[in-house]
Amino acid sequence: MLDWGRRYLVCPPTHFGVLYEINPWMHREVAVDVDRAREQWDAVVAALSSAGAEVEVLDPVEGLPDLVFTANAGVVNIRPDGERQFVPARFRNPERQGEESVNEAWFAAHGWKVDHLPGDLPHEGAGDALPFRGELVCGHRWRTDARAHVALAGVTGATVRLVELADERLYHLDMTFCPLDERRAIVTPAAYEPAGWEMMRTFVPERLELRLDEALALTANAVVVGNTIVMTACPPRVGRQLEAWGFDVVVVDVSEFVKAGGGVRCLTLALDVSLGSPPAADG
Ligand code: ARG
Repeated sequence: MLDWGRRYLVCPPTHFGVLYEINPWMHREVAVDVDRAREQWDAVVAALSSAGAEVEVLDPVEGLPDLVFTANAGVVNIRPDGERQFVPARFRNPERQGEESVNEAWFAAHGWKVDHLPGDLPHEGAGDALPFRGELVCGHRWRTDARAHVALAGVTGATVRLVELADERLYHLDMTFCPLDERRAIVTPAAYEPAGWEMMRTFVPERLELRLDEALALTANAVVVGNTIVMTACPPRVGRQLEAWGFDVVVVDVSEFVKAGGGVRCLTLALDVSLGSPPAADG
């Protein structure tokens, strides 16, 4: 079982909508049903809770429709000495940059030490950085700059493994990759540049490999809580493999959020992740 994934930050969709277009999924002319979005979001939270996870809530802010996608808030790191470190995201698109101070304020107010990335390159938080086997798998290209991941390694002490993303429709790593336990993960070969796929293939001992069409249904954008997996979509073949591996599969309809290019994982930020320690200071 994963040693993280039992505590999440979420943000209700009170002000959610598709108000701008910053990825190939978003079309302003497609209306979002806010009541339906709220029902779907409640169902995600209920599924996480039934699976045994605890949930903390970030207050929504008018004018920040994508704040619901808390996966992008930043990177969380609980140090061995118990200190809770939060590294806020720096969004690539100006449309989301207003979220940065909101996220930072929440973490500061809840007792987290906020450390910023040096430099000014974009980094979109856990959407592009997922822990696996004691290291941090880091997607880059569309939203996060590879050099920002290197800076993140310096700030957190994490060992980062870079994987360049290949398909703009799968613009964050968490749309392609889902750690399942210490050996297993969902991966999407077609979503990575060749060197990135070579890294994933050798780093993940037991892989559930998605076809591109399966990944485009946001099958990998799932949240694992112990042996429950809460999914955006689950093709039958994928469900059979997950069940054979001992997982209980729960699918939650989040179609309103898919209109903005996000699924179940994007709606959550794991708060119980440990990445390592920062490099010891000189002297
Ligand atoms: N509309 C949001 C954006 O384009 C969706 C974010 C999806 N988040 C994720 N972790 N994949 O930024």
